Parts: sequence; structure tokens; C-alpha cells
Amino acid sequence: MHDSSSATMSHGLAGPVLSAVGAPVRATARRHLLSIDDLYDAELDRIVRRGAEFADGRCDDERPLRDLVVGVLFRETSTRTRTAFAVGALRLGAQLVSYGAADLQENTGETVADTGRVLSRMLDVLVARTAGPEEELRAYAAQERMAVVNAMSAGEHPTQALTDLTTLLRHFGRLAGLRVLYVGEGNNTASALALALSRYPGTELHLRTPRGYGVQPQYLERAADHAARAGSTVEQRHTMERLPEVDVVYTTRWQTTGTTKPDPHWREVFAPYRVDSAVMTANPGAVFMHDLPAHRGEEVTAEVLDGPRSLAFDQAENKYHSARAVLEWCAGAAR
Ligand code: CP
Repeated sequence: MHDSSSATMSHGLAGPVLSAVGAPVRATARRHLLSIDDLYDAELDRIVRRGAEFADGRCDDERPLRDLVVGVLFRETSTRTRTAFAVGALRLGAQLVSYGAADLQENTGETVADTGRVLSRMLDVLVARTAGPEEELRAYAAQERMAVVNAMSAGEHPTQALTDLTTLLRHFGRLAGLRVLYVGEGNNTASALALALSRYPGTELHLRTPRGYGVQPQYLERAADHAARAGSTVEQRHTMERLPEVDVVYTTRWQTTGTTKPDPHWREVFAPYRVDSAVMTANPGAVFMHDLPAHRGEEVTAEVLDGPRSLAFDQAENKYHSARAVLEWCAGAAR
């Protein structure tokens, strides 16, 4: 990790924000979280650790977002992320406005940028799942009052990566040096994990993805830059032969939310990438992680998902703890 001094820099949002003690703080305190790469190393690490603090009940101010209003806009289905941010905002003292896929005038042709400008006059933070390109979220963010959180776009799922790192930190007590085997589709969860884990020295991320379904090159290139700087490793192969020894085996649903696969035979391509007891037996010291939702018998067997080495449901709970850390940071209420 490096660049701790730059972590004090703001991302330039203006607007009145209340500090944890109710006094005005600097007008540039609000910050967007659209990509893991919006965070300096120290900011990333702070949010990850703060998520663990929330999980352990270590929070000095119970309501740092009091007097703020958080909007939660989900154009795609969600169980964990939507609930985590909604409950997180309420628990931190904010008021909540919730929008579903058909609620806004975007459906009648209003632009995303105009929607963002209008919402920013009334909301302090917008948590949005578009499942479209990141540019849509950047259009919401093209205003100076409201922080925008990416709750999953087509390319990246940054709040999942923050949850995952908090889960790893809580389980292992450290992040440096951890070795992760990621098996399955190289989707937005995988790209965010690559961008985040590669910031930590000595970590290894081994991606085993079906050919044609790997992590997109632009994310691998950015992760490789982080890895070169941090002394970590990110590598992708399209085979399940010669799996490395790791601390964590991670998989994800084969049908990523909001996507379809044009190849009618895609299940045959994915079949070798199922995480079963053989994969776990080859890694006797490893825990299992899954971002959920899961399809038992598809990307993972029930024996593994529901087995004693699975952290998947702790990981789901950690989304709530991590969401509070994200909201606190984006609202400018983090200490
Ligand atoms: N992992 C995840 O993002 O879950 P949801 O789609 O239920 O929010």
C-alpha cells in the first residue's frame, strides 16, 4: 500500500455536509465511489477496515448521517446490496428514498445527466445499480452536490470488492499475502476484486475463467499496474488444470445479474469451472467465498456452499457492515 498522504485529497464535490458532531465540515467532503480506482490506497484500506469496525460494533457515533437523505435506485434485481445500503443508511441516521426500475422519468426519456442534476438538489447520496456502462453513473455524478455510489455496473461491482476484502480481513486478520483462486465468469465482481486485492503486497489472485468469459483486458491491465507497484500478482488462465495452492476459493453465479449469454452452449463451456469437493480437497486449508446469489449444482455444489469452510453467508452480512463504511465515507462523515 502507498500514497497515504494523497488520501486526504477530496474528489471535489461541493455541498453542506454535517460532521459526526453536527457541525459543518469542509464543503468538498462528499465523494463518489464509481470504481475501486476512484480510491487511493489508503482510502480503500480505510473503508475495508471501517467495515470490519462496524461489524465488530466499534463505531463511536451511532448516527453520523443524521439530517442527510440517501436515495437508493435499483434498475436491476438485488437482495444483498439494496438491503445493505437501505438498512445501512437508516441505521446511520439518514432518511431514505427508494426507486425501482420503472419509477423515474428516465423511462419517458429524461436524460441520466438531467436526472442526476435534479436528484442532487434533494439527495445527499445516491446509491445506484444500473447494470449498464459506468458512464451512466458518471452522468449521475456530473453535478456538485450529491455523492454517487456504484452498486453494480456492467464492468465493475466495487461495493462487492469492499465487502469481500472486509470479509477476508475479518477471517484472516490481514490482507497482505493472501492467495485467492477465483473460478468462473470474469464478471463485474471479478474485475472489482482484481482492482482491490492487487493493491495489497504479496497477494495473489489466480483467475480461472472460461475462454471468452474472462475479466476484460482494461481491468486486468489496471490491476497489473497496481500489482507491479504493490508487489502482488494477478494472472488469468482459461483452464482448470494445475490449480495453485491458495487460502481462498471464490466463485460467482454463472448468470451475472442483468446479462444473458448469446452462445446457446455456454453451460458446456462453464461445466469444468464448477467448484466442488474435488477443488476444495486440492486446497485443504482454503475457505470458500461466493458473492451470492448462488445456483447450487451449477457454479458450486451444495456440499461446498453450505459446508463448514464456506464464508458466503458471513460475506452477505458483511455487505451491510461495508455499506455503512461506504456511506460514511461518501457522505464525508468518515473520521
Ligand atoms: N452480490 C450481490 O450484489 O448481491 P445482490 O445482487 O443480491 O445485491
